[in-house]
Amino acid sequence: MTTPLKKLIPQAEDFLPLLGTDYIEFYVGNAKQAAYYYQTAWGFQPIAYSGLETGQKHQTSYVLQQGKIRLVLTSPLHPDGPINSHINSHGDAVKILALWVDDATKSFEETIKRGAKPYLQPTMEKDENGTVIRSGIHTYGETIHIFVERKNYSGAFLPGYKAWDKTYKTTDVGLKYVDHIVGNVGWNEMNEWCDFYTHVMGFAQLVSFDDKDISTDYTALMSKVMSNGNGRIKFPINEPAIGRKKSQIEEYIDFYNGAGVQHMALATDNIIETVSQLQQRGVDFLTIPASYYETVLDRVGTIDEDLEPLKELGILIDRDEEGYLLQIFTKPVLDRPTLFFEIIQRKGAQSFGKGNFKALFEAIEREQEQRGTL
Ligand code: FE2
Repeated sequence: MTTPLKKLIPQAEDFLPLLGTDYIEFYVGNAKQAAYYYQTAWGFQPIAYSGLETGQKHQTSYVLQQGKIRLVLTSPLHPDGPINSHINSHGDAVKILALWVDDATKSFEETIKRGAKPYLQPTMEKDENGTVIRSGIHTYGETIHIFVERKNYSGAFLPGYKAWDKTYKTTDVGLKYVDHIVGNVGWNEMNEWCDFYTHVMGFAQLVSFDDKDISTDYTALMSKVMSNGNGRIKFPINEPAIGRKKSQIEEYIDFYNGAGVQHMALATDNIIETVSQLQQRGVDFLTIPASYYETVLDRVGTIDEDLEPLKELGILIDRDEEGYLLQIFTKPVLDRPTLFFEIIQRKGAQSFGKGNFKALFEAIEREQEQRGTL
């Protein structure tokens, strides 16, 4: 069922095209403290700020960066309004998956023509550093794609932001870029959203997993991985499947109150160092039984790393036709069991860790059991 990436990707019709992930914006209750968390625990660096001091009277946004990964944390300054209702409905959550394009007007027109629901008409913003054009469309749940055209801009982030020259800086943990961003959608909605990425965004399906691949004794889910033509943007889409107990996707949908971003995989080229740093700084990861490491090398063969540090840190290993990968998953980073992060190091493999699904989902079920949501 797994088909190597390079064989399928020509099927994508890259009419946009997408150059990469531009930024990921969260709507949160307290952006100042969230920014401190992503700086202190995750090693993101302060880049730009917008708020009362910059003439923005309704909301505050902090922009943080590590490698090519740019996070925007936004909080409302007053009651009511769309940011408040988003937080009320979903808790702290990913609102915007912004995509870097050459032409935000064309990206809007092409996707609207193919059936996308408009969110933001192409809009030019300017300041002394040049101009940015942004446009936006809706995707699953209340999540938004913003197209960002920034080829004529040299400022810190976007017009309206000032460079955030903070004296408090932490060392980064070696995170490089966004590998993939996973959306959870409701029962029987996976194919609808995969069709959206195929027809509206010009993506192609790389891989699909059914409930036989992704189930334990108790719970199940289904997943399809959608990719744009150049492979820089990969959006797996999950939906719950029937099992003996409640699917982790159903738990997410219940707490998120609908479809939304489940996890973001961030790439490193030294997962042992990155995860050691994150654990020392208090980021909690799912734990894997020691028995996993007794047989893992029989399954994946020889790897460059010593097994012992991988075992100590709880890092998982999988292999496909093209190589192997190392991956680990945090516990939810919010009070609601919704968003979590994956740290991934690819050593040739372009797949998503199918061989680890069972160990991973059993680890998630142990957490669900403690939450009383299994
Ligand atoms: Fe993932």
